[in-house]
Amino acid sequence: MSLYDNPKYYEIAFSFRNIPAEVNFFEAAVKKFSKIKVRKVLELASGNSPYLKEWHRRGYEYFGLDLNGRMLDFVKARAKEGGIGVKLFRANMNKFSLGKLKVDLAYVLLGSLFAKSNEDFFQHLDCVGKTLRTGGLYILDGVVWFNLLGDNEQKWTISKNGIKMKVSFRATIIDHTAQTFRDNVVLEISDHEVRKRIRSHELRKFYFPQEFVSLIKCHNQFEFLGYFNDFDLKKPATVKGRQIAVLRKK
Ligand SMILES: C[S@@+](CC[C@H](N)C(=O)[O-])C[C@H]1O[C@@H](n2cnc3c(N)ncnc32)[C@H](O)[C@@H]1O
Repeated sequence: MSLYDNPKYYEIAFSFRNIPAEVNFFEAAVKKFSKIKVRKVLELASGNSPYLKEWHRRGYEYFGLDLNGRMLDFVKARAKEGGIGVKLFRANMNKFSLGKLKVDLAYVLLGSLFAKSNEDFFQHLDCVGKTLRTGGLYILDGVVWFNLLGDNEQKWTISKNGIKMKVSFRATIIDHTAQTFRDNVVLEISDHEVRKRIRSHELRKFYFPQEFVSLIKCHNQFEFLGYFNDFDLKKPATVKGRQIAVLRKK
């Protein structure tokens, strides 16, 4: 079974986040760096749209884009239940157009930039560039790898509503020259009486801190504003925790 076809279990596995604190960081980054007022926000690889409720509560309009129809249906059903207006797009993040829609802030979470090469990444930036208003921020959580030589395995256990799971993540290098890896995520689930094992192993490219800065310069549609740690503008990125890159559309 594939992880992204199972939004209910995916959401529990990645529910360790403090969403109000993360959205506070986004608002602080906007206050500090954005040249435009933010009303419309776009999440790329939006999956279960973890920030949807929080953006709605704070008066923003939320847009999500994802390849997986099951994830999008899950979010639509939840939004309907909560009486939240939501507009979702089923598309590839490296090849999309939202027509006339322009957003004021774009972001990607948990390293969900599914580019296999620099060409894919530039196409992705072209698409984001066409959708994001000039002066708006593009915030990327977990996309750039700071732990260059260490073991990258992560393991945790988590439970919700009587569903318990062991989660593990490990990036396995596929091609050293192309800098590609598979992100092996495994969920071992006890859902009351039922046991399940779900995994994902998407192919992606590693981006390293100085390489990423050079690529942004070379692409030339965004300014690189900095790397931060753990959703705190006062903390520069370190090898531990969650590292965030902040870009601004030129
Ligand atoms: C790790 S989940 C992130 C979900 C959510 N943003 C979050 O923070 O929990 C990655 C999501 O990326 C989607 N995805 C994978 N490849 C994609 C692509 N090329 N374009 C758009 N979405 C993609 C998957 O369907 C999945 O929902």
